[in-house]
Amino acid sequence: MGIAVYPGSFDPITYGHLDIIQRGRRVFDRLIVAVLHNASKQPLFTLEERMHLIREVTKEMPNVEVDSFDGLLVDYIRSIQADVILRGLRAISDFEYELQIASINREMNKEAETLFMMTNNKYSFLSSSIVKEFAKYGADVGELVPDVVKKALMAKYGHQQAGE
Ligand code: PNS
Repeated sequence: MGIAVYPGSFDPITYGHLDIIQRGRRVFDRLIVAVLHNASKQPLFTLEERMHLIREVTKEMPNVEVDSFDGLLVDYIRSIQADVILRGLRAISDFEYELQIASINREMNKEAETLFMMTNNKYSFLSSSIVKEFAKYGADVGELVPDVVKKALMAKYGHQQAGE
C-alpha cells in the first residue's frame, strides 16, 4: 500500500516507536522513518546519533528506511512522493495536537493524508522525554528502549553499564 513516512524527533527511539514501525511496515510497501533535523528544542542526541540508533534497531526490516528532513513535513513528503504520514496515538491527550497538525498539513498539501495507529497499550505511557528523565538518574530503562539505545543513554549521562 505505497510509501508511508513516519516522522518524529526520535530523541531517542523507544519501544513505543518501534511498535508503530513494526506494525506500519506490514501495512505499507515502504516505511520511511523521517527524523526531524531542526527541532526547536535542543535534542539530547545529534541527528546522526538518532538516525544511527534507528538504523540499528530496524536493520532486520528490509522495507524500513531511515531518512532526515528539515523544514516542513508536507514539503518533505511531496519531495519523496510519499502517500501517507503515519503517526502513533497513545491516548486522548495526543489527539488534540495530532488533529491540529494533521489538519494543517492537509490544508497546506491537499494530498498529505495522515493515518494513525493506536499504540500498543503496553507503551501508552511511554515517551522519549520520560525515558530521558529516568535514564538521567541512572534508572534501568531496559523495558522501555532497545539495548543499544539504553547503552547510548547511559553513555550520554555518564552512567556505568553493569559489568563495566
Ligand atoms: O516526535 P514528535 O516531536 O512528536 O514529532 C513532531 C513532528 C516532527 C512530526 C512535527 O513537529 C513536524 O512535522 N515538524 C516539522 C515542521 C512542520 O511541518 N511543522 C508543521 C506541523 S507542526
